[in-house]
Amino acid sequence: MKKDMNDKDMLNIKEDKKSLQWIVDPLLQWYEEQARVLPWRENSDPYRVWVSEIMLQQTRVEAVISYYQRFMENFPNIATLAEAPEEKVMKLWEGLGYYSRARNLKKAAEVMCEQYRGKFPGEYSEILKLPGIGKYTAGAISSIAFGQPCSAVDGNVLRVITRLEENNADIKNEKFKKQIGERLEEIYPIGYCSEFTQSLMELGATVCVPNGEPKCEECPLKSGCSAYKNNTWHKYPVKQMKPQRKKINKTVLIISAGDKIAVRQRGEQGLLAGLWEFPNIDRKLTEEEIGKWLEQQGIEIIQIEKHKNTKHIFTHLEWQMNCYHIVCKEMNDSFKWVSKEELNNTVPLPTAFRKCL
Ligand code: ADE
Ligand code: SF4
Repeated sequence: MKKDMNDKDMLNIKEDKKSLQWIVDPLLQWYEEQARVLPWRENSDPYRVWVSEIMLQQTRVEAVISYYQRFMENFPNIATLAEAPEEKVMKLWEGLGYYSRARNLKKAAEVMCEQYRGKFPGEYSEILKLPGIGKYTAGAISSIAFGQPCSAVDGNVLRVITRLEENNADIKNEKFKKQIGERLEEIYPIGYCSEFTQSLMELGATVCVPNGEPKCEECPLKSGCSAYKNNTWHKYPVKQMKPQRKKINKTVLIISAGDKIAVRQRGEQGLLAGLWEFPNIDRKLTEEEIGKWLEQQGIEIIQIEKHKNTKHIFTHLEWQMNCYHIVCKEMNDSFKWVSKEELNNTVPLPTAFRKCL
């Protein structure tokens, strides 16, 4: 697929850095010499590779090793895992966290027994369909266990590549991730796909490390690394900060008198400026406080009824809305009173407030 200029700019591809071909040989050679001896590297049984990749998803290598060995002793293959009682699988997982991973492992083993005659499917697209397996894990299994030129782009890989080319793109951007995956697949060395995937992960885990200074002097890629050349490793990767949303509690009052409902216009400045709203207070009020507040507005309550709470998310704010329906005795000048029809057809009432109805 051809990318247009805007995409290119946005994803910050430098034309001269486009091919990553140069990293293949030094990485493979380094990996051959330096790879850690790890239990899941004993052979390329896809079952073993799969379990290791799932365990390693949210957990450090050192923490995984003993769990992995115990798991393999108890469930040496797909069939034993599929037939195991779920409590036993969960018990062996205890302490690793993210327990849905264990539940999905067992589920996927059952699927393989039912749909693939107990064998691990060898196609990327089939692997991707299994419970608990996303693009990264499918790529890792396809390349490590089946020797296919499929990339597995995780945080380690993104850190290495963005540093190599001083790439400012946001690594949370799915488009960017996909593009790195595609650029890597162009250079996958046939016959060494497993080693290539693992060498990238290994470099990110042991040399171009996530916390603190990378060990550039030991790095097989330093001769071509822009971050090394310019001593800018600390600037990469760029992660877009999640906007931290401020949570605001609100009490929203849907006040009706006969067949009319009270609304008021928002101020000319700020969020939802100039739009209409139900009377509301930026705080969670008790029913007693609501009564007092209404009294101050000259409203006489006949009935007060709690509605379901709802929330509404804005870019920088989140409203937690505590909604009440108030039946009052008569309309007054504190608000504008509109019919349901007007509310639906003419009053510009933001979604946040429509949710309260
Ligand atoms: N992190 C994720 N997958 C890994 C693997 N196969 N080896 C070492 N670290 C990893
Ligand atoms: Fe990372 Fe340093 Fe290697 Fe560059 S030279 S890839 S910054 S470890």
